[in-house]
Amino acid sequence: MTATPAGSVNLLEELSGEAERLFNRHLEAPRLWFPHEQIDWGSGEDFKEKPWEATDYELSDGVRSAIYTNLLTEDNLPYYTESIMGHAPKDHPLNAWTRQWTMEENKHSMVMRDWVHISRCINPTLLEEGRVVQMSTGMVPQFTNLADLISYVSMQERATQIAHRNTASKLPKEDKQGRNVLALIAGDETKHYMFYRDLTKAAFDLDPSTMMEAVNRQVEHFAMPGVGIPNFTKHAVRIAKEGIYGVQQFLQDVVTPVLELWDVEHLEGLSAEAEKARIALFEMIDKLKAAVERTAQKAAAQAAAATA
Ligand SMILES: [Fe+2]
Ligand SMILES: [Fe+2]
Repeated sequence: MTATPAGSVNLLEELSGEAERLFNRHLEAPRLWFPHEQIDWGSGEDFKEKPWEATDYELSDGVRSAIYTNLLTEDNLPYYTESIMGHAPKDHPLNAWTRQWTMEENKHSMVMRDWVHISRCINPTLLEEGRVVQMSTGMVPQFTNLADLISYVSMQERATQIAHRNTASKLPKEDKQGRNVLALIAGDETKHYMFYRDLTKAAFDLDPSTMMEAVNRQVEHFAMPGVGIPNFTKHAVRIAKEGIYGVQQFLQDVVTPVLELWDVEHLEGLSAEAEKARIALFEMIDKLKAAVERTAQKAAAQAAAATA
């Protein structure tokens, strides 16, 4: 097989049919749910009569940080939509998909906030102050081309699914409402992931060299959405320590499955630049694996010392 010169394919045009097929597949497998039906409204209390206190809902700092950053990320949707919309003309199936996606993502912040206010699981004042800062900044990743965009969004949807799923698993068993809300959101994220993951797979079939270079860039610079959130680093550290989302999950639950699905290891016909990108990617993954291993060993040693 001869090498495909990167960029020789018009991905936007060539992916039009596949984007339409995947969009229809998404619509044919609806997960219809209504935000208002997920909330036990009678269990709420008036914040004016009973101001929020941490003891209203006992949770570790890591789980509170996860709820806070996950919800603020959903709130930041307008800027994601703006960032994505510019990559396809109005009549392209990718644009129709983005409108559907925006509609579904918008529901996530609505239902999460309803649950947060009813359950009192995190401080509502802190949440609103965070929303004001985050949305005044409007920081979201920007992409210069479609290859980088779909590579990133595939991983981001998967990462978001994992973060919501793992947060749900850390809630008290008796909070069935919260577990249900986060499970519904994680289910939507799974469907979003499937759309972008399979679109990216089709792009790999069309132009492996361009996609290889794009994926290498996006894995290298990947950060969970939310860098504009106040104290984001502090929250990210807490969330990782809690085992909800960190380098370990990024490696095992995000990077590994997508690279396997795109069959990155066995791609043929790569340009010299793309081959370099593939080598760099696997070197980076080895470094991440070593970092995860070191952290696990340190945690095990600390646990052993604590019980000695
Ligand atoms: Fe979402
Ligand atoms: Fe999503």
